[in-house]
Amino acid sequence: MIQLASNENPLGMPAAARQAAADALAGAALYPDATGRALKEALAARLGVTPDWLVLGSGSSEILTLTAQAVVKPGEGVLWSQYGFVVYAQAAALARGEGRAVPAQRFGHDLKAMAAAITPQTRLVFVANPNNPTGTFLEGARLQEFLAQVPRETTVLLDEAYTEYLAPRQRYDAIGWLRAFPNLVVARTFSKAYGLAGLRVGYGVAQPALAARLNAIRPRFNVTTPALAAAVAALADNDFVQRTYELNRVGRAQLSEGLGQLGVETLPSAGNFVMACFADARGVHAALLRAGIAVSTLDNYALPDWLRITVGTQEQNAAVLEAVADAARA
Ligand SMILES: Cc1ncc(COP(=O)(O)O)c(C=O)c1O
Repeated sequence: MIQLASNENPLGMPAAARQAAADALAGAALYPDATGRALKEALAARLGVTPDWLVLGSGSSEILTLTAQAVVKPGEGVLWSQYGFVVYAQAAALARGEGRAVPAQRFGHDLKAMAAAITPQTRLVFVANPNNPTGTFLEGARLQEFLAQVPRETTVLLDEAYTEYLAPRQRYDAIGWLRAFPNLVVARTFSKAYGLAGLRVGYGVAQPALAARLNAIRPRFNVTTPALAAAVAALADNDFVQRTYELNRVGRAQLSEGLGQLGVETLPSAGNFVMACFADARGVHAALLRAGIAVSTLDNYALPDWLRITVGTQEQNAAVLEAVADAARA
């Protein structure tokens, strides 16, 4: 089966990370390093912060849930955008917060409406950039403006799971912004561009006071020994991330243009996936499955006419286009 349903890396994992994880298994009779020292030091050096700005998670999903648990009390407000990542609602529910999705604007975040929706009870706002599943992108300057409007008592979690896929002209320095915003958490992951989705490693970056609140409730051994070792190796492999970026840039255009030629509407995407609209999305989903290709339906986002297709290798993308064309002829 060609797996294009969960936005993983079609290149697999970096060879050095695979080796590091395998080597680390030898020590896996012992508990992992609860401080994640080696990974935190490598990340701190890369990001220009000190290790006390970092929180490690079992995937960045755990950073999302930990943040909600740290800052939201039962009944307090949590906001996200319509078509926001499903884990935001789960994180709000886990903290027994009052979750609310703010209506989207052309499938993306309506930051004006989100700022206006913040009340004195709002403790947490999730913003994903780029957003999954829509692939929509917010300019850095607009995000900064938004952050300046958010009261300090409200935490903003900026979810940058797909940040490595941004084109150079789209990039911005959210880590740099942290110095001005003590209420900001930036979440990133090793699951996408670093190819380690099955190992579950992500991280949050925040000023030390807020990072300490998250670390205080973090399960002590939440990142396993092989995952820690693989993440250190993956972080060092700039070439792998560059190849991933390039494969995605070309493959995303291949998919979007190819679907366009078949008369299928797609949204411009800044991530490693494309959202495409079909008259019979369910039928196309089933036809792709019969052709050995798994993509994602979006019923759980109330987008029943759309499918989300992860950008694969050139051959995988070609297989998707062929299967869609076949489905249209059937
Ligand atoms: C927007 C967004 N944030 C966070 C994640 C979490 O990924 P992980 O928990 O694997 O780091 C995903 C995964 O699909 C995502 O799409």
